[in-house]
Amino acid sequence: MFKSYRNILLGASLIAAASTTLFAADTGASKKYADGIQKGKLVIDGGVTYPVKNGKTGPYYINEKAHSLAINNGRPATPNEIKAWDIDVMPDGTGLPEGEGTAEEGEEVYEAKCLSCHGDFGSGGGGYPSLSKGNAYELHETLKFQRTTPDADGPVRVFGTYWPRASTLWWYIKTGMPHPAPLSLTDDQVYALVAYIYVLNELKIDGEEVEDDTVINKSNVLKVDLPNKDGFIPNIDGPNALEDVRAFYNDYSNYGNGTRCMHDCFKGEPKVAPIVIEQKSFLPPLSEKRDLPKNPCWIASCDCEAGGSANAEGKKIYDASCAVCHGNDSMGAPDVGNKEAWAKVMKKGMDAVLKNAINGVNAMPPRGGTDLPDDKLKAAIEYMYSKSK
Ligand code: HEC
Ligand code: HEC
Repeated sequence: MFKSYRNILLGASLIAAASTTLFAADTGASKKYADGIQKGKLVIDGGVTYPVKNGKTGPYYINEKAHSLAINNGRPATPNEIKAWDIDVMPDGTGLPEGEGTAEEGEEVYEAKCLSCHGDFGSGGGGYPSLSKGNAYELHETLKFQRTTPDADGPVRVFGTYWPRASTLWWYIKTGMPHPAPLSLTDDQVYALVAYIYVLNELKIDGEEVEDDTVINKSNVLKVDLPNKDGFIPNIDGPNALEDVRAFYNDYSNYGNGTRCMHDCFKGEPKVAPIVIEQKSFLPPLSEKRDLPKNPCWIASCDCEAGGSANAEGKKIYDASCAVCHGNDSMGAPDVGNKEAWAKVMKKGMDAVLKNAINGVNAMPPRGGTDLPDDKLKAAIEYMYSKSK
């Protein structure tokens, strides 16, 4: 009946649109239509996923043939290509290769390949993340209660304190580090680096702190006891993950004030405080000033009125230093408001015009007789031009 996917979609939406009116008269058809819409599965955001039945979801046809015809780029990946791509290490250990290493060996690799960025003993700094800040179990405490009693230093979020799964560390280093040469480390080197990072974070395996000579391999690497393993909510693991997540979001006290609410939500003080973190660990420190220009309009070609735009600065300069000559044409200066004169000037392009204003031309003194820097001169010119178009 329909020749292409587009037509199918079109046809389907027409049926959908018309169904209430057209089919209402025909009880047989409307019953069929009503039966066609299965009760779908609620998804997290309140939407519905409809099951596909007899090639249809509700009134809509799924045209699988047309899909494969319409999207006909490339070729299927070969098994080897998939193998090269499928290199994740999963929390259950899938993807972990054979191999082993100790922290002692890891330290050597670290000093040769990681220290330049991540600092001595993974201390971080200079914009590079820390890999440890000390004993992960003690520092894990800093992650807690940030919403109710925020800590001025903020939570310590490094691998040992924060990451829930060790598999991610193995995989991250193997596929991402060292930053300039990903995938350059051998599996033994990665086990050794992981062991070294365990030691830096004073982490334990089976109740025992990992030592410099503890051999880390496929069989014990994921047994490390990470203090934040249950720290992420909602829990998205396991066979009931979806139901758990749904239940979590349906309980507003998990993330709000207990009720769903759009205005006047708080009687008295809200129960949760915003997270306050002083950004101390950045060099140079992050600025907390909010002094962005009020008007983002920096170019004359935009449609801002001088008063309400970045042109305000240009206007100020013009009034103070340029208007005396450019306010009229008595001196032969292109006068502001004179479209023809300014069109002629600007034909040369802003760069050339700015250069003339900087160096002076004929009766135009260098920088208009001021000591304004180039960008301010430019702002003045942009203002003058914007008023002469
Ligand atoms: C050239 C600089 C550089 C080198 C060398 C380097 N890294 Fe990194 N590393 C980075 C940067 C940058 C990030 C942050 C990347 C991001 O967040 O996207 C990072 C992130 C990491 C992280 C994640 C940290 C976190 O908590 O998010 C680990 C773990 C890590 N690197 C380990 C290593 C190891 C092990 C080596 C040595 C084999 C190494 N890196 C070498 C620059 C480097
Ligand atoms: C003493 C008078 C005087 C002052 C003050 C003055 N100008 Fe001029 N300006 C002139 C004259 C005259 C010309 C025309 C020069 C010519 O082309 O012969 C001119 C030309 C220009 C041009 C056109 C240059 C070109 O490429 O043709 C620009 C742009 C300009 N002025 C900008 C400014 C700015 C910005 C200021 C204020 C900071 C300023 N002028 C102050 C007299 C002045």
